[in-house]
Amino acid sequence: MNVYDMQKEVLRLKEEQNACILAHSYVAREISEIADFVGDSYQLSVKASQVPNQKVIMCGVRFMAETVKILSPEKTVYLANPIAGCPMAEQMDKAMISQVKEMYPDYVVMAYVNTTAELKTIADVCVTSSSAVKIAKALKEDKILFIPDCNLGAFVAKQVPDKTVKLLQGGCPVHAAVKGSAVTEAKKAHPNALVLVHPECVPAVTEQADYVGSTSGIMDFAKQSSAKEFIIGTEISIAEHLQYDCPDKMFYPLTKHLICPNMKATTLVDLYRVLRGEFGEEIILDGETIAQARKCIDKMIELGG
Ligand code: 13P
Ligand code: SF4
Repeated sequence: MNVYDMQKEVLRLKEEQNACILAHSYVAREISEIADFVGDSYQLSVKASQVPNQKVIMCGVRFMAETVKILSPEKTVYLANPIAGCPMAEQMDKAMISQVKEMYPDYVVMAYVNTTAELKTIADVCVTSSSAVKIAKALKEDKILFIPDCNLGAFVAKQVPDKTVKLLQGGCPVHAAVKGSAVTEAKKAHPNALVLVHPECVPAVTEQADYVGSTSGIMDFAKQSSAKEFIIGTEISIAEHLQYDCPDKMFYPLTKHLICPNMKATTLVDLYRVLRGEFGEEIILDGETIAQARKCIDKMIELGG
């Protein structure tokens, strides 16, 4: 079967089963072309609480499928490829953060959505890269323990200077590996390009950027801008999607190393096999975890909307 025939077959099976395909913007082009909805983590979370279908297939990473299950426990939710995890989400666990909480009893725990369902059970509020600053401003409390991403946390702290933000040493191994010198080199190679980066990058990178935002924020900025050239400092797929969407503009990945192997793990064939009942993992979470973890996600949607 070629790619085109497989896409048609996926669409046919999806209709037959009344399934909904959700895809993060980092996944492969041949999947995003046929997904029911493509977006950043915040948009996917909101969508997850709204879709009418009984069966939902997440083409993204595990914490995203868990978020769908937490928001719609009555649905059958599949992670299209079970090996697609997010290393950052595994960096801190409930036992560790419970101990840290004891050291900072008067701080609210603000958890990046890139955390496990278990860890979300002890968070006060969840955030995504697109909603973190807005939510930090909206919170009535002024002491925040931000987990696990110290780079997103530092970005939030800078935008909300009247609050105290405590950071821990976690982060995205893909984005955090980009050095400030990469921006200098990319600007030298493309002097007319604007630099758009994700807040998971280190401050030495974000401080040199023309725009810092989530994957959807970066895409919207590039589409609406009158500029013609852009250096894209997030997963390499975003530069590719933008190049399709805006063929008259030029998009240069900030470095060729900005590749998330977990987001690349899911293929169109995986999706096809999930719909044939041969692959994928059904997300199972116990009722107590769902009830506890849901509180911080509901608060994110309430304050971030
Ligand atoms: P977004 O919130 O921009 O979707 O980011 C998710 C992610 O995993 C980035 O690495
Ligand atoms: Fe996790 Fe980083 Fe991959 Fe996003 S890019 S899924 S934060 S490892």
